[in-house]
Amino acid sequence: MARLSGKTALITGAARGIGQTIAELFALEGATVLVTDIRDDEGQSVAKTCADHTPDSRYFRLDVRNEHEWQSATETITKTFGRLDILVNNAGITGFEGGFVPHDPENTTLEDWRSVHAVNLDGVFLGCKYALRLMKSHGGSIINISSRSGIVGIPRAAAYASSKAAVRNHTKSVALYAAEMGYKIRCNSIHPAAILTPMWDAVLGEGEERERNLQEHSAEIPLRVFGQPRDVAYAAVYLASEESQYITGIELTIDGGILAGATAAPRR
Ligand SMILES: NC(=O)c1ccc[n+]([C@@H]2O[C@H](COP(=O)([O-])OP(=O)(O)OC[C@H]3O[C@@H](n4cnc5c(N)ncnc54)[C@H](O)[C@@H]3O)[C@@H](O)[C@H]2O)c1
Repeated sequence: MARLSGKTALITGAARGIGQTIAELFALEGATVLVTDIRDDEGQSVAKTCADHTPDSRYFRLDVRNEHEWQSATETITKTFGRLDILVNNAGITGFEGGFVPHDPENTTLEDWRSVHAVNLDGVFLGCKYALRLMKSHGGSIINISSRSGIVGIPRAAAYASSKAAVRNHTKSVALYAAEMGYKIRCNSIHPAAILTPMWDAVLGEGEERERNLQEHSAEIPLRVFGQPRDVAYAAVYLASEESQYITGIELTIDGGILAGATAAPRR
């Protein structure tokens, strides 16, 4: 039997990258998937793929920064499906989408700092708030996609690191709040690193430069390769399913060993 059979799942930022793969794997595992993003065309096409497995899967636009959009998503879900079982707060930005601007602690503008937090942190706060309301009568699983950057400092991507650290911590507040209230809602964070998605395009460049950069970055990963979106999606299926029913408030790293320790070692 499929591992998410009969469940309804909403995934933010699901038009491409990790969110897309989570959406498609969830559908394959039997979940009806609400694919959401601000990239409408790509989102529609992901929803179509999901609907091949679970026909009620669909796309709708949801800008995670906007509370009104969360409210209308809640209304749509209540009217159409009557319940939500799984939320994956996946949408995220680095701050480098429009090109390289300073993101170090000394030179980041307040505007750039806030725009990264608006998506990565406000978006997760709002998602958790409305998921708690939608799930509290019957239970569910909230999965927040943080980052290894939420565990260590990143000097040249300080807003990204700060927002992801806040997501790590908020996950634990949500997990404990839900437990205290007697809701059967679990909340966990996933901390990926070096997963090859379009998010890396700005960093890696194109053509030969991309190949060179890929090799250089890979050499710094203990497993020596970039991860794939499915490496994160398999973990999300586990945290979304009943298989993880005794797990709440954890942080799961998926990083090829990067956070296991320093690779610097005495050489012969
Ligand atoms: N790729 C990695 O190596 C890596 C590492 C650590 C953490 N992550 C996290 O994983 C998540 C997915 O990253 P990805 O690599 O697939 O990135 P991606 O850029 O490929 O996809 C991100 C998606 O989020 C959407 N999005 C952006 N702003 C939005 C908004 N305001 N409302 C709704 N959707 C919005 C984008 O349109 C896009 O479809 C992010 O939270 C990211 O921080 C990725």
